[in-house]
Amino acid sequence: MSMFGLGTTNSLTMDKPHPSSLLDTGVQGAISRPFDRVDGPKKVSGAATYAAEYEFDNLAYGFLVSARIGAGKVVSIDADAVRSLPGVIDVVWDFKRFIRVAGQGGETKAPTQGVQEIAFSGEIIAIVVAESYEAARDAALQLPVTYEAGQGVFDLAVNRDEAYTPPDLVTPGHFAQGDVDKAMAEAPVSIDVTYTTPSQNSAAMEPHASTAVWEEDGSLTLYGAYQMPTSDASQLAKSLGLSAKKVRIVSRYIGGGFGSKLGIAPESVAAAIAAKQVGRPVKAVMARQQVFEATVRRSNTEQRLRLAANADGRLAAIGQESYVSNQPGEDYFEPVGIGTHMLYAGENRLISHLQIPVNYVLSGSMRAPGEAVGMIGLECAMDELAERLGMDPVALRKLNDASIDPEKGVPFSSRSLTAALDEGARRFGWKERPVARRDGEWLVGMGMASAVRGNMLMESSAKVEIHPDGSATVSSAMTDIGTGSYTILAQIASEILGIPVARITLELGDTNAPPAAGSGGSWGAGSSGSAVYLACEMLKDKLAKAMDVEADALTLKDGMAIGANRSVSIGELAGEGLEATGHIKPGKQEKETTQASFGAHFAEVGVNMVTGEIRVRRMLGVFAAGRVLNAKTARSQCLGGMTFGIGAALTEELYHDTRNGKLVNHDLAEYHVPVNADVPQLEVHFLQERDIHANPIHAKGIGELGISGAAAAVANAVYNATGVRVREFPITLDKLL
Ligand code: MOS
Repeated sequence: MSMFGLGTTNSLTMDKPHPSSLLDTGVQGAISRPFDRVDGPKKVSGAATYAAEYEFDNLAYGFLVSARIGAGKVVSIDADAVRSLPGVIDVVWDFKRFIRVAGQGGETKAPTQGVQEIAFSGEIIAIVVAESYEAARDAALQLPVTYEAGQGVFDLAVNRDEAYTPPDLVTPGHFAQGDVDKAMAEAPVSIDVTYTTPSQNSAAMEPHASTAVWEEDGSLTLYGAYQMPTSDASQLAKSLGLSAKKVRIVSRYIGGGFGSKLGIAPESVAAAIAAKQVGRPVKAVMARQQVFEATVRRSNTEQRLRLAANADGRLAAIGQESYVSNQPGEDYFEPVGIGTHMLYAGENRLISHLQIPVNYVLSGSMRAPGEAVGMIGLECAMDELAERLGMDPVALRKLNDASIDPEKGVPFSSRSLTAALDEGARRFGWKERPVARRDGEWLVGMGMASAVRGNMLMESSAKVEIHPDGSATVSSAMTDIGTGSYTILAQIASEILGIPVARITLELGDTNAPPAAGSGGSWGAGSSGSAVYLACEMLKDKLAKAMDVEADALTLKDGMAIGANRSVSIGELAGEGLEATGHIKPGKQEKETTQASFGAHFAEVGVNMVTGEIRVRRMLGVFAAGRVLNAKTARSQCLGGMTFGIGAALTEELYHDTRNGKLVNHDLAEYHVPVNADVPQLEVHFLQERDIHANPIHAKGIGELGISGAAAAVANAVYNATGVRVREFPITLDKLL
C-alpha cells in the first residue's frame, strides 16, 4: 500500500476491504485502552482556548442585533442613534441572512447589500462594534430598527398542504419498494399509528463565538468553534466573496457542537465583515438566546408508521411517512427514515418525507440527524406491534434482523444487532420484565429498542512527524468537540510508531494543517483516525528502511525500534526527522456494503401514580461499532447519547409561538435538557467487532449511536409501567394523567 521510502503521502481509497491492521498487534498497548483525555488537564485548568477566549491587541467587541419580527423586511436601521453612545465604534449591517448552512447539503448564499428580508424571528440583521462587550450589547439593545412586517407562516398546520418532497441528500426524500397498502390490507396483524416529535436545540454548553482577524494581504483568520474547519473555511470564503485560500479557521477546543457548529453561524460572517469595516480584530459572541434563535434547530417530525406482520411476526411491510419542516427554499430536511432503510427486513417498504415550509428557526443537523427521532417512531411502533402479536419485543426484533440490506441487496459490512439484543437482554434482566409492578406509589416498567446509526467515511488527511528526540507531532484540520479526538489520534500514532502517548503532540483544529472532514455524523474517528494510521504506516516503512529490515520484521515499542537482532532508538533512526501525510477517501466499499453501527437499549422507569412524574431508574446500552479505539471516550459518547435520549423522551421541546414565530423557550432555563438528577446510573457495554470494509482501523461511528433508539426504550418502558401509549413527544406528565 505505502510506497516504500518514496514520497511523503500515503493515500488510500476504500475500494477493497482492508483485512489486516497494524493496530491488531497491540505491541504498544495504546489502542482501545481507557486513556484519560490528553487535553483534559488543559481543559480543567482553563488553559484550553474555547471559542470566545482568543485574545488580540486592539480587539473590538461585536454584539449581534436580532430581528424582532418573524417575516418581512428591515426598512431602516438608525445607526447614528447609537454611534454616540459610550464606547461604540460602529454599526455594521450591510449584509443579510448569512446563515444558510446547516450541515449536509448546506449552501452559503452570498450576502447582499440593501433591504433585509427576514425569514424568521431572531434572524441576525446587524452587529454593533464597541470597545467592550457590555458597550456593544447596550447599544445593540437600543438600536432603532424599523420593519415592514410581512406574511409569515408560523403554524405548521397552515402550510401542511404546501409540503413537498425534498431533494435527496444522504437519504432519499422518497423510497418505495413493493406495495405497502396491499401488504397492510392482507396482513393478519398490522398497526397504523402516528408519532410526533418536537423541534429541538443542540444546546451545546459553549455559545457560538468567533474572532475575525484580517491580515494586510487581504487574508482572514477566524478563531472560534467550528466542527468542520476545512469546509467551514470554504463556506465562509464563498459568503464573503473570497478565495478559499484566503480564509483560515482556528478551532482548537470546542465546548460541544452536537451539529450546531457543523456549518458557519451568523456570528462568524458578522465578525468578519465588521472587522474589515472597523479595521480591527472583532470578537462576536452570541448570547444564549441568539444561539437558540439564530443557529439551527432539529426539525419537528410527524411520522405515520405502518407495520404489517405475518402471524409469526415476520414483517411484510414497513412504512414511515414523515412530515418535517424548514424555512422556505431550504434543501436540508430531517432524514427521519434514514435508519428505517436498513434496520429490519421486509419486502414492502415506503419511506418518505414531506417538507413543510415555515418561518421558524432554520432546521439543520442535530446529533444523529434522522435516527435520533426516526427511531422513536419506528421503535415505539415495533413495541406496539409486539404487543399486538403477543410477542416479546426482543424476539420480534431478532426475528426481523436483516441478513442483507433489504433495499440495496448488498451485505452489511458488519452487523451485530442480534448479538447486542441478546447481550442486553441478559445483562438487563429482561426476562424478569414486570407486568404492572408497583413500588409504593410508583408504577414500574421496562422497555427496549434497537439502535442503529449509519457509518460514514469522509475524505481526510493528517500529517505525522517523528522528531530527532523521538517525540512525534500529529497535525490535521480535524477537530475535537469534546469527543476525544485528541486522545484517540494520539493512541493510533502511539500504537503504530511505538512512541508513548505522552510524547505525541496533537495540533488539531487549524486549516493550515492538512485538510480533514472534521467532527460530524460520527465519521470523525474513522476518517481522521485512518488518515493518521496511513501516515504512521508510511513512517513505519521509512523507519524499517533506515534500519534496513522489512517493515514486518520491525517492532516499534516504547521509543525503540527492534529488528534483525538490533535495537535502536526511534529518534536516532529518524535522523533529522521523518514525516508523512496520510490521506483516506471513500471508495467502492461504500457501495458494495451497507455500513452501520448497531446496538440495543434497555430502560426501566418509575411513574408516580399520584403526580405522573416519570423517573428513569436505570438504563443499559449494548453497542457494536467495530474497533473501540478508547474504552473510556467511547463509553462517554454513549452515555451522552443515552442522556440525549432521556431528554428527547421526557423533556426537550422547542416551542415556536404560532402567532409570530417567536421562540418561547430560548434558553437553558426554559428548554429542558436532562440534568444530573434526571439521569440514573447508565450502563454501557461494547461487543467485540472489527469492520474491515469501513476503513483500515476497522472502527465504525460511535458518537451518535448512543442516542439512536434510546428515547424509544424510555417511552416503551413508560407504556409498560402505565399502559398509556403517548405518541406525542416529549412524554410529559400531563399526557399520562
Ligand atoms: Mo453531528 S449532528 O453531524 O454534529
